[in-house]
Amino acid sequence: MARKVVLASKNPYKVGEALAILGDIPGVEWLTFRNIALPEVEEIGETLEDNAILKATAAARETGLPALAEDTGLEVEVLGGVPGVRSARFAGEGKDYRANNEKLLKLLSGAMDRRARFRTVAVLALPDGRTWMAEGVLAGRIVDTPRGKYGFGYDPLFVPNGEVRTLAEMLPTEKNAISHRRRALEAMRPILLDLVRGALD
Ligand code: IMP
Repeated sequence: MARKVVLASKNPYKVGEALAILGDIPGVEWLTFRNIALPEVEEIGETLEDNAILKATAAARETGLPALAEDTGLEVEVLGGVPGVRSARFAGEGKDYRANNEKLLKLLSGAMDRRARFRTVAVLALPDGRTWMAEGVLAGRIVDTPRGKYGFGYDPLFVPNGEVRTLAEMLPTEKNAISHRRRALEAMRPILLDLVRGALD
């Protein structure tokens, strides 16, 4: 019988990417916000690690099932790692992706050093309190004007090293092949395989 695992995110873009990356694991039945109630979790942590743990452990506790969560931030070198853990509400509570992008471009206007990286921290939590953590990083730079129609968030502003296109100009399959999210979630695959074969029971 398949093992149910909760994907603890209410962001449909993140859920789509996570399923594209880990959806092929045999023996896992993924439950998402579309078919299971997820707890409201305030992202009050000071780090991506804290927030990923908060989200995964709350979901595992509430559902009684293993839960996988992640927290992602865009860390801009010349801004000392900002927006980082505050990436979602950079331009203020309830502001949209466009407002966040505009704020970032304004802060970087005239800046020569445009190096940045996406960092994802993924956490798998079991209802008994055990947790596993993995990190994925994608280094690149911030462009001057948004480009592309795919992806979400800061994707139209971010060109990975070795690329000329922004993440939003790459097809979803291309982004998912190299992304911070792929690297973090891929590192979770062996743990999920252990879970499926009962090695964590
Ligand atoms: P959180 O992990 O839900 O706190 O998301 C943080 C914010 O980072 C999101 O609201 C997006 O603006 C941004 N973000 C997260 N992942 C990505 C990504 O893969 N590409 C672009 N922006 C992202």
